[in-house]
Amino acid sequence: MIETNVTKMFGLKYPIFSAPMGPFFTRELALAVSEAGGLGVLSNVNIVGTDPVEEHKKSIEYMIEHTDKPFGLNILTSRNNRGVKEMITDIPKIIMDNPKMREQCVYFLTSAGSSKLLPSSKSFQELREKSEVKHFHVAPAHWLAQKCVDAGVDGIVCTGTEGGGHQSYEKVTTLVLLQQLNEAFPDLPKIACGGFATGEALAAALSLGAGAIAMGSRFIASKESEFHEKYKALVPPGTPQDTSLYTGSFGPIRLYKNEYALAHPAPSTKEEMIAYEKSITPEMAERDAGAYDRVYNGDITTGAVLLGQSIGIINSIDSVNDIIERIIKGAEVAIKKNYSSLK
Ligand SMILES: Cc1cc2nc3c(=O)[nH]c(=O)nc-3n(C[C@H](O)[C@H](O)[C@H](O)COP(=O)(O)O)c2cc1C
Repeated sequence: MIETNVTKMFGLKYPIFSAPMGPFFTRELALAVSEAGGLGVLSNVNIVGTDPVEEHKKSIEYMIEHTDKPFGLNILTSRNNRGVKEMITDIPKIIMDNPKMREQCVYFLTSAGSSKLLPSSKSFQELREKSEVKHFHVAPAHWLAQKCVDAGVDGIVCTGTEGGGHQSYEKVTTLVLLQQLNEAFPDLPKIACGGFATGEALAAALSLGAGAIAMGSRFIASKESEFHEKYKALVPPGTPQDTSLYTGSFGPIRLYKNEYALAHPAPSTKEEMIAYEKSITPEMAERDAGAYDRVYNGDITTGAVLLGQSIGIINSIDSVNDIIERIIKGAEVAIKKNYSSLK
């Protein structure tokens, strides 16, 4: 048994979370992770033609129908994210009105925008008072973690630059970030994210003060994930060098190097990136969203293929249960080995 402040906070068997992976659906994945003893997280699905509140509602309903275990959801709080105001107002209300949802949907993870937005929502304030729900925000740098603490978060997800998908301008590695945040906020619950795929890495995260890890790429290469088979098939042969940072609609994004990625080179400065973001028109956003539709349908050449450097250590596509069991066993062996080297 590995018990941490995070497993205790959410009543989990294992300190393992699935990372949100919008705009892709992660309903089946979240269900499998929660059922296996971790905490599954529903992604913010905002592809063209969908209503993000409705998608979250359907996913939450699906979860409570199929499991009694706890789970969570992600809201991207970027001003560029469609439906953000409706999500922070309506989703807490939907959960508040349903006792089973209130009991199980215990983790709100915000990211890619302000950590103050969700706590400013009256309906979230009410949900927070009347349930066990916790609010975490993704912190990719020390100064951003401080903002989260000032906003009154219950914990942070420490995501380094090696992680797949949405990234920050900060480019701090998970290893350095965890050491900084452990020193700065020793008692704050922390989830380590970006680059994790093995038990040894979980043991390292726990040594660095994290109470759990979250994984994206490792879970893409699972039997249960909704990603296209061609997407999954890129993972086992992939190397860390097959991914790099490019330009996304919410800041830099780590992509698999394909035709789409190479056509979206990363800007050299943060100022350039902010100027680019401000210039995004609804037509451009729609065109970009087409890259997600394409990859949904298996076009891994001109579609946006979000993956992290951790693909270099993932050798097979496995069931979520096997992935989690293997990581826990590996972590226990690593912790015992470290302990036995104490003389
Ligand atoms: C396909 C994909 C989509 C992602 N979409 C989101 C998202 O919607 N919101 C978010 O906060 N992070 C998103 N991320 C980042 C992940 O939540 C997480 O930080 C990352 O996968 C961790 O690195 P790893 O892939 O090495 O595990 C995405 C990552 C991937 C691979």
